[in-house]
Amino acid sequence: MPLYETVASKIVDLVERGTFNPGERVPSIRNLSRQLKVSVNTVKTAYAFLEDRRVIQAKPQSGYYVCPRLPEPPSEPEITTPAFDPAVISASDLVLRIMGDVMSPDIVQFGAAIPDPSLVPTAKLTRMLSSEARRFPDESTAYAMPPGNIRLRTQIAKHMMKAGCTLHPDDIIITNGASEAVFLALRAICKPGDTLVIGAPLYFTFLQMIQSLGLKVLEIPMSPTRGINLEALEIALDRHRVQACLLIPNFNNPLGFCMDDGRKKRLLGLLKRHAVPVIEDDINGDLSFSGTRPSVIKAWDRDGDVLLCSSFSKTLAPGYRVGWIAPGKYMDSIQRQKLMINIATPTPTQLAVAEFLVSGGYEHHLRSIRKIYGKRIVQMADAVGHYFPSETRVTRPEGGFALWVEMPGNVDSIALYGLALKKGITVAPGKIFSTTDRFNHCIRLNAAFWSGETRWAVKTLGKIVCQLSRNS
Ligand SMILES: Cc1ncc(COP(=O)(O)O)c(C=O)c1O
Repeated sequence: MPLYETVASKIVDLVERGTFNPGERVPSIRNLSRQLKVSVNTVKTAYAFLEDRRVIQAKPQSGYYVCPRLPEPPSEPEITTPAFDPAVISASDLVLRIMGDVMSPDIVQFGAAIPDPSLVPTAKLTRMLSSEARRFPDESTAYAMPPGNIRLRTQIAKHMMKAGCTLHPDDIIITNGASEAVFLALRAICKPGDTLVIGAPLYFTFLQMIQSLGLKVLEIPMSPTRGINLEALEIALDRHRVQACLLIPNFNNPLGFCMDDGRKKRLLGLLKRHAVPVIEDDINGDLSFSGTRPSVIKAWDRDGDVLLCSSFSKTLAPGYRVGWIAPGKYMDSIQRQKLMINIATPTPTQLAVAEFLVSGGYEHHLRSIRKIYGKRIVQMADAVGHYFPSETRVTRPEGGFALWVEMPGNVDSIALYGLALKKGITVAPGKIFSTTDRFNHCIRLNAAFWSGETRWAVKTLGKIVCQLSRNS
């Protein structure tokens, strides 16, 4: 065995025995060369060898660190998997319970995809809330009639240029979060009994919303890395009359993938050929770990067929309820619906978010939280790899903070939910992300938080999953 391989195997041995844990620094090249009495070049070659095998990774100006032990990503769905008949959704009490648990301070919040409150720029937002109310006393207490505050709409239009979108402020309507934006879009396009095409698994609140509107869904399988299966979508569109398509192409909830530009363009072309408008949810678009802002499908929309929805719930403050929609040719209809449903979105939070964007604080804030969430996703995936059964697979999100975990096939995520809750932990069971039972052995974890307590919670979940997997 060449000398560098002997050196490398010593490091592998130390990592396997837990002397060096994932994320920890290994000795510097110079130190190891002194300790093992080998040349600096031998250690350099050994470290390059270990880097190729993803045992260690170099961090510029810092040294070499043990790589996280990330489990394999979930398997690719087969094209034959889609349920090719539109399905009716049943309302789930479990969804309401998970949403209710969000309010409980005693529960470890892995169930709802909420940001870490300690990363919300509360002090700055509160200052802006009161300074803007003083600056615009009359406006701040009056209705901000649809389309909503012009300063905010101008800022959103400017911001979305980074996503390849040329929007005019008058193309945008401010809504109560992205939820209302999607709800208004569904109401504008579909009527009860219509069929909607979606990528599955889908963020569960949208499934409940679709159910409440009396719509049916055609679930199209999604690759955990590339997004919706375009071949399966084409087959579905050829076979069925579909009214609209609802998708989350950037840092999807729950799978975390970001569709590349080529696939986004192909998707839009395909839907256009079948005259199907797209409801595009871009709520996580600003949360790319690499810092590169992905494009939105809307960027290639020349005819107003894409209804782009988003909000500041993941990046600033979910409780402010500031979202928006750029509804293309459905502008009039959405504006009327909005007026009918709740007249307007609260004014003070619109003023504060507009000021946050104007003052330049938003970009700085994004840079900081993207880095933190990127690190936490890896920490949680690593802990799942450590504590869950070895067949477990987890996604590799490139942004956002949702982690999708595929457990051994015999583990029932609903049973896991009940047992975990008794220990003070919530998870989002896979079943509520689909009308089928395909994801019953999956869970979505909120990786926005990371601490000693969350590591304990992942370890506890792992123990329960191991038991469930052995007992069934
Ligand atoms: C993909 C997605 N869209 C929309 C929402 C709801 O957003 P909002 O709070 O802005 O209504 C969420 C919240 O978790 C989400 O994950």
